[in-house]
Amino acid sequence: MRELGVSSEVFPSDISVEVLAGSPSLKGVIISGGPHSVYDADSPTMEHAVLKAGIPVLGICYGQQLISQLLGGKVRKGDKGEYGLAMLDLKAGESQILKGVQDHQQIWMSHRDVVASPPPGFRILATTATCETAAIEDTARKLYGVQFHPEVVHTTEGSKILRNFVFDICACEKDWNAGERLALVENQIRAVVGDRNVFFFVSGGVDSTVAFTLCMRALGAERVRGVYVDTGLMREGETDFVERTFERLSPGIVSIEHAGEEFLGALESAREPEHKRHIIGEQFVKVQERIIESLGLLGESWVLGQGTIYPDTIESGGTAKAATIKTHHNRVPGIQKLMEEGRIVEPLCEFYKDEVRAIGRQLGLDSELLERHPFPGPGLAIRCLCSEIDEPVVRIAEGWLVPVHSVGVQGDARSYAPVLAIEAFPTQAAKLQDEATELVNRTAGVNRVIARVALREPFEKQQVFASSITKGRLELLRQADAIVREICVRQGFDSQVWQFPVILIPVGCGESRDSVVLRPVQSVDGMTADSVAMPDELLFAMGIRLMTMPEIAGVYYDLTHKPPGTIEWE
Ligand code: XMP
Repeated sequence: MRELGVSSEVFPSDISVEVLAGSPSLKGVIISGGPHSVYDADSPTMEHAVLKAGIPVLGICYGQQLISQLLGGKVRKGDKGEYGLAMLDLKAGESQILKGVQDHQQIWMSHRDVVASPPPGFRILATTATCETAAIEDTARKLYGVQFHPEVVHTTEGSKILRNFVFDICACEKDWNAGERLALVENQIRAVVGDRNVFFFVSGGVDSTVAFTLCMRALGAERVRGVYVDTGLMREGETDFVERTFERLSPGIVSIEHAGEEFLGALESAREPEHKRHIIGEQFVKVQERIIESLGLLGESWVLGQGTIYPDTIESGGTAKAATIKTHHNRVPGIQKLMEEGRIVEPLCEFYKDEVRAIGRQLGLDSELLERHPFPGPGLAIRCLCSEIDEPVVRIAEGWLVPVHSVGVQGDARSYAPVLAIEAFPTQAAKLQDEATELVNRTAGVNRVIARVALREPFEKQQVFASSITKGRLELLRQADAIVREICVRQGFDSQVWQFPVILIPVGCGESRDSVVLRPVQSVDGMTADSVAMPDELLFAMGIRLMTMPEIAGVYYDLTHKPPGTIEWE
């Protein structure tokens, strides 16, 4: 809505119709998607009366299903899931919500449940190969539903559909001005912080640097301090980059704490992703508390600043109804406690990544910093995969089942499943991304598809090794990551992708017990992503260079979009 220049607010779904209708500025309601099934007990619902108040309502995905169920339609589990790109076919006839949209166009789907029959009074406007009720409307009651996601960039005409709703159906006027954002956020910072000072743990990423700079502007450099914790889980050259960045802002404003040994020691026993994340989160809090104490920052006069952005709070279950897909380290119990005490300021918590970059440009920050690929707080630890046991790679009809579990997201819920490796040549692999989505939907129990770029020994000799996060494996990953980054920058590929995680998986044979996965993705905000096609020369160059490391048994290319995969493997 804000991208369209219209102000909007997010409410829990069970808000009362009195509160909603009592707001003089209310022009319409959008009911979002979510991971539940409307027919399950305890699934989120809404007051029936909202649909009868004469307010225009648009339901997206789960929202469409909820409207249908509440008004006497039928929702059931679909015969198969539909995750990723799909084609929408419009039915003949006038429509308000799909006005001006082409008859056949690309959309983004992420669902298993479907509306089997819409409620009385509704007309079906469009279908896909898998979904008979991809869009519905009842113009008399001003109720609209779409099964697909108009809000993601992959739905080619999504913003036209949202514009139809906001401007034509709800008659909204433009009242949200991005240019006024800075002043608003700075006022908010002053209101939250009061006469206290702000202390940041900066990461060197765009979010925490922009949040830090905003606080510096709002409060003055003398009231803002930062520490960069070198967790030993960062990429090569990272600490130097951070030091340079902040020295340029204001000399001495940020100091460096070397804590690599501590983090590594704490991670020794961890294998499972959420366990790793919790350990890192707790370790962050420990180091943080030690620093606060040693610098004399205890007491009421300090507030903790954070660069949390909106998608972080959605994906870690921070909004009341979203399922926990991954726990972000800034939402672990220690930090929760500070939040409950009101000792936290998160100036960017309502913004998406592209908005954060725009704010950074307004603040005059370096484009080298602003155009950096995002890098996760828990660092290389979530790209260094582990396994409890030795396990063989298994031949199945679709390829090879590699029993390394990685995190994925299907129907807005978390999955944790093995990977399917296919035998396609890398030259074909770049064209296989869309088929990969279909393969995941079809192959029981996997959430990703990878293709081989280079292998020291054939598939039948590969196995998964019992493994944990060790100094040696981290160093190996760091070197592999540096090699990939160097080639990307040299060949100008760096600026063509949104992010390029390099992942180490404990798959190999003999003395070479690890393999590297290349994961270039295109995205707007990290919420959804496309696996990017890489030119053959680039793939070959990376494969050859990486295979010069004797510890590396193979190089793979992740073909999976998000959903059904996530960007990070964990
Ligand atoms: P996923 O793997 O969930 O990642 O598709 C979406 C985006 O979020 C980044 N990410 C994180 N960023 N702290 C962060 O600051 C975290 O704990 C974290 N985990 C994932 C990820 O790199 C991608 O850009």
